[in-house]
Amino acid sequence: MLNMAKRQLSKTSIKKPPPPPPASDLSRRAEWVGGEPIASLLMAKALAQPELVSLAAGFVDQESLPVEPTRKTLEKIFSQAPVGREALQYGTTIGYPPLRKLILSRLLQADGCTAAEWNLSPEQVIVSAGSNQLLFLLGDILLNPGDIVICGSPSYYVYLGILGNLGARAVGVECDEQGIVPEAIDEELRRRQAAGELARVKAIYVMPYSDNPMGVTMPEVRRQAVVELAKRWLPDQRLYVIEDVAYRELRYYGEDVPSLRRSDPEGETVVQVGTFSKSYSPGIRVGWGIFPPALLTPLLHEKGNFDFGSPQLNQMLMTTVIEQGLFDPHVAYLCETYRHKTEATLRALDEFLGPIGGIEWIRPHGGLYVWVRLPESIDTGVAGPLFDRAITEGVLYIPGEFCYPSEGAAPQKNMLRLSFGVPHCDAIRRGVQSLGRAIRQIL
Ligand SMILES: Cc1ncc(COP(=O)(O)O)c(C=O)c1O
Repeated sequence: MLNMAKRQLSKTSIKKPPPPPPASDLSRRAEWVGGEPIASLLMAKALAQPELVSLAAGFVDQESLPVEPTRKTLEKIFSQAPVGREALQYGTTIGYPPLRKLILSRLLQADGCTAAEWNLSPEQVIVSAGSNQLLFLLGDILLNPGDIVICGSPSYYVYLGILGNLGARAVGVECDEQGIVPEAIDEELRRRQAAGELARVKAIYVMPYSDNPMGVTMPEVRRQAVVELAKRWLPDQRLYVIEDVAYRELRYYGEDVPSLRRSDPEGETVVQVGTFSKSYSPGIRVGWGIFPPALLTPLLHEKGNFDFGSPQLNQMLMTTVIEQGLFDPHVAYLCETYRHKTEATLRALDEFLGPIGGIEWIRPHGGLYVWVRLPESIDTGVAGPLFDRAITEGVLYIPGEFCYPSEGAAPQKNMLRLSFGVPHCDAIRRGVQSLGRAIRQIL
């Protein structure tokens, strides 16, 4: 098992904000977006070699996508013309009211509390076209170029991209098998204070449920510690905690844990962002956010300018799926499917990577990923020897280097992420076997 708790944080760095880019036809923001997105790079590799097993993309299982429940629900919506017309019309910026109510009541139920205890109403729930949209919009209203968000090192690489796009800085702090380490956040805040940059730190981003890429779940004490810490620091200026619960429903072992929002009864510190992409369908792409009152109006203005309402049909579809009792059985079926895939991945790792020696991985309790540490001599990056060798052997993985913030805790070159979402169990086995061959050749 991987023991990242012992990892040294000594090699931290404090960088200046990026220098202004040269004048060009594009905006500064367009330049901050950077080079080729990771997804298209990997897609190109996969297309060039169709027999490749992709353990890279965080896509969901193709076979279990809910065609039948969705068909039935669409039929129901369109069997009544007025309902069908409502679904085909624009909605509101904040989102479809019945869905916002359902999201809230389900969250309250999951966390075992009441709306009064949470100091919350459906007016604070915003529905979006996927949670990524809200992560972007939230960043846009919160962050000036050069502002800082503290993230786990490693973290969800698309979110790191969003911060880069906004000219903000992701600063990484240590993560272990229980997720982001509160003491490491505290230390980082001290460092920023010493550097006179405390006011630039605007948020802490966490994924408390089966995170991307490590697959770890934060225990309750750690969740409470992160919220307390955010409240203790910066009493004059709010330090938000952005809680991304994308994988909460995909839990294959163990009990559910109350969210960080549960530890913020005043509701002024934690922003919770969630999605139906993983638990139902990314093609429908419905996400949500629960916002502190201070962020609500700016966020709604921002979203109003952006899309003045996410697709109404998709929101009504998700609402009806839940109301018809089709959602929970689907989640149960997904968890069963992914439990098999998790076990297939772990068995293959034991069989093909275990005997090599010096390789460790975290056993996930949910989500779609296994985070693997190779011997230190192996660079898993796209420019390193393993990446291309693995492709030649027939497998694609996500190099760990994509997942590290560019500042803060030093990235580790010998890490990689495997995703068991898409391939069948036999393909997973073949993919891990190919990876084993590639590693042996490099060693
Ligand atoms: C941690 C995390 N958050 C958010 C998302 C985005 O999901 P959505 O489809 O809702 O935009 C993903 C997708 O992979 C994810 O892994």
